Amino acid sequence: MPVDATLAALRALLGPSGVVTAGDVTARYLVDQREFVQGTTPAVLRPASTEEVAAAVKIIAAAGLGVVAQGGNTSYCGGATPDRSGRQFVLSLERMNRIRSIDPLGFTLSVDAGVILVDAQAAAASENLMLPMSLGSEGSCRVGGNIGTNAGGLSVLRYGMTRDLALGIEAVLADGSILNDMRRLRKNNTGYDVKQSFIGGEGTLGIVTGAVFKLIPAPTHHATGWLQLADAPPLAQMLALVRRETADLVSSFEYITPGTLDLVRADPAAAGLGCGPGGVLLVELSAASARVPVEEILAGTIEQMVEQGWVTDAFLAQGDRQRADMWRLRETIPEGEKKAGGSVKHDISVPISELNEFIARGGAAVAAYDPSLRLSFYGHVGDGNLHYNVLVPPGEDRLAFSARIDRELAPQLYDISASLGGTFSAEHGVGRFKRHLLDHYSDPTRRDLMRRIKTAFDPANTMNAGAVVDPLG
Ligand code: MLT
Ligand code: ZN
Repeated sequence: MPVDATLAALRALLGPSGVVTAGDVTARYLVDQREFVQGTTPAVLRPASTEEVAAAVKIIAAAGLGVVAQGGNTSYCGGATPDRSGRQFVLSLERMNRIRSIDPLGFTLSVDAGVILVDAQAAAASENLMLPMSLGSEGSCRVGGNIGTNAGGLSVLRYGMTRDLALGIEAVLADGSILNDMRRLRKNNTGYDVKQSFIGGEGTLGIVTGAVFKLIPAPTHHATGWLQLADAPPLAQMLALVRRETADLVSSFEYITPGTLDLVRADPAAAGLGCGPGGVLLVELSAASARVPVEEILAGTIEQMVEQGWVTDAFLAQGDRQRADMWRLRETIPEGEKKAGGSVKHDISVPISELNEFIARGGAAVAAYDPSLRLSFYGHVGDGNLHYNVLVPPGEDRLAFSARIDRELAPQLYDISASLGGTFSAEHGVGRFKRHLLDHYSDPTRRDLMRRIKTAFDPANTMNAGAVVDPLG
């Protein structure tokens, strides 16, 4: 079926507000979050129900055209941007934003995939429960995207990645059939865990339309420490000490180097929060009961780190406002990078015990390549995840600089990570930007299996073709 006839069929199905073709409206759906690539599309589809998604996918499949699912369009890897063929529809989940149900006894939340993450969090909070997913982009990302990319964030250390929190999902498959696996079960040992294929599948195996999440009792007590570090802090040893001494109550363990903290210095909160020569650790303990003296436990642990010579000074947040100030500094780092002219992002993951080694070898590689480069280096060290970003130097063209770093420096960093048992994508996914890295670094058997899975789920390669894996590659 030609594109025009397909559009007419989609209009008849979704109505005028469900099919958008006006260029000024579609523009924001066609560029990736970091403004690296610009795609084209016959139309942006905005279905309002799972049945509409399924029927639209059927029409598109019958026409031999493609579809790219999009949530909040916050992918760092171009995972939700169509290509330039003009043959891929963007299917936005934004109208599917219903909280389906909350089970306050079973501690579960069932939602449409287009619910914005903060709205899902608020629904859980209305029952004194918490959805323990915390991301800088939580005000705009949508849970379908979190599922599709297996999002990480600021509290993975204690609660896990998205795949650890999803009990069930609903998805529309490439042929338009609906997989209904919206289960609230903690235990379901009935063969392959099929839903996991869609989690982190980035819309290449099907379109996630709903999810059931595990909740936890909402923490009522937090101890949040801003720890100024001595030079060359032994991060892995510090994390091990904190985990042991706090009975694993630590929910976040975030590292910020001095150069990165400089990016958010304009925030008034930064004035009262100093930085050690080795940077800063933002450490948070949380508990859902006053009977757990989290502040006392954290203060005692910090004392031990001071005695070891690792920490030079530390502040414990006095109240919610100071806690929010500390977190705002951490969460606005990506914005700070943007304001400074942008960065080339390296989302490194290494085994925790190799963190110090990566930092030493990565630093040496950057210094040998070009000692004048400025790094924005920070991350979720509690998860072995380092955001090892290179700032675009003033006056340099952002795209040309990114291409050069991707070609000349990034492979060195990824080789170091790989040699330590790590990867090139801890939490940002693969999308279109990192597909070549997956090809290069994946074990051939794993890569082949991924291609076979893609072909089994999507034989005509209509679901987000171009992202993650090339079935013919
Ligand atoms: C973050 O943790 O802030 C983001 O995942 C990293 C980034 O923006 O590079
Ligand atoms: Zn991150």
